[in-house]
Amino acid sequence: MRKKVLVFRELPDDQLARLQAAHEVTVANPRIAAQLPAFEAALPEAQGLIGSSFPVDDVLLARAPKLEVISSVSVGVDNYALPALHARGILLCHTPGVLDETVADTVFALLMATSRRVVELSNLVREGRWTKNIGEDLFGFDVHGKTLGLLGFGRIGQAIARRAALGFGMPVLYHARRPVDLAAQAPELQGRALHTPLDELLARADIAVAMLPLSDSTRGMVDAHVFGRMKPGAIFINGGRGATVQEPALLEALDRGTLRAAGLDVFATEPLPVDSPLRTHPRVTPLPHIGSATHETRHAMAELATTNLLKALAGERPLAVYDTAFA
Ligand code: DGY
Repeated sequence: MRKKVLVFRELPDDQLARLQAAHEVTVANPRIAAQLPAFEAALPEAQGLIGSSFPVDDVLLARAPKLEVISSVSVGVDNYALPALHARGILLCHTPGVLDETVADTVFALLMATSRRVVELSNLVREGRWTKNIGEDLFGFDVHGKTLGLLGFGRIGQAIARRAALGFGMPVLYHARRPVDLAAQAPELQGRALHTPLDELLARADIAVAMLPLSDSTRGMVDAHVFGRMKPGAIFINGGRGATVQEPALLEALDRGTLRAAGLDVFATEPLPVDSPLRTHPRVTPLPHIGSATHETRHAMAELATTNLLKALAGERPLAVYDTAFA
């Protein structure tokens, strides 16, 4: 039976065509003012939603009484009102797995760029300021051999750890609720990545990387206490979710000199407000949330999300369902 599907963020043509072949599809991105009326008009009849980067909160859900399934083109599910979805029995699908290596590449690029001051020094050349050999004031810091501390050690954290341990000879410490069974999940990291209490990790890591999902228990978790415990001169990278970090505490740690530099792909508010001090801070390398943003991976995510939605609307088990009981 053809159902009503609302696509709230553009999909690649081939995936949109798969949806259109089976269902009645409206494409309307509520972030684009001209498309908002179409989005609002389609909500009351929508049985399936597919998209990303838009808060699907209690108010929005109340205006979608026929909703059966939401398929998010993301692995993170912090944009969704999980208790309401759970209470109404609305299925939530997401896209784990297909983006792990790409996000790990991005985090490593940010880590390298921040440690070796790549963006700052490239700008020096572009702006015609390379007039003599650079001196110590513009030197960077080695990455190879340094100790990496990972806050969060899911699939993406493990992909970062592989790059660090196997490619750059870095000892890896990780903090997670419980130790990961490396023999079963990542045998190549056995003896190379150690489950470590948070304070010890912070004291030892030269480069601390946050890869935390956003939930009630992680919101604001990286606070003044965490920055205060970091090894003096450490570098901080955030590739998870912006709101896990208390940004004023981060700025204070940078200005106090506790932190050498920060590389940030995510922010508490996105897009980053133009008046945010993080935008122009001389020791911050900011990126516009590009963790998974490659042609190949964004297509793979769209394909998985489309398959999830088609299966759910057909009454079959989708490939990746998020358990909304874990609100
Ligand atoms: C995700 O999938 O949650 C990533 O942040 C990419 O948007």
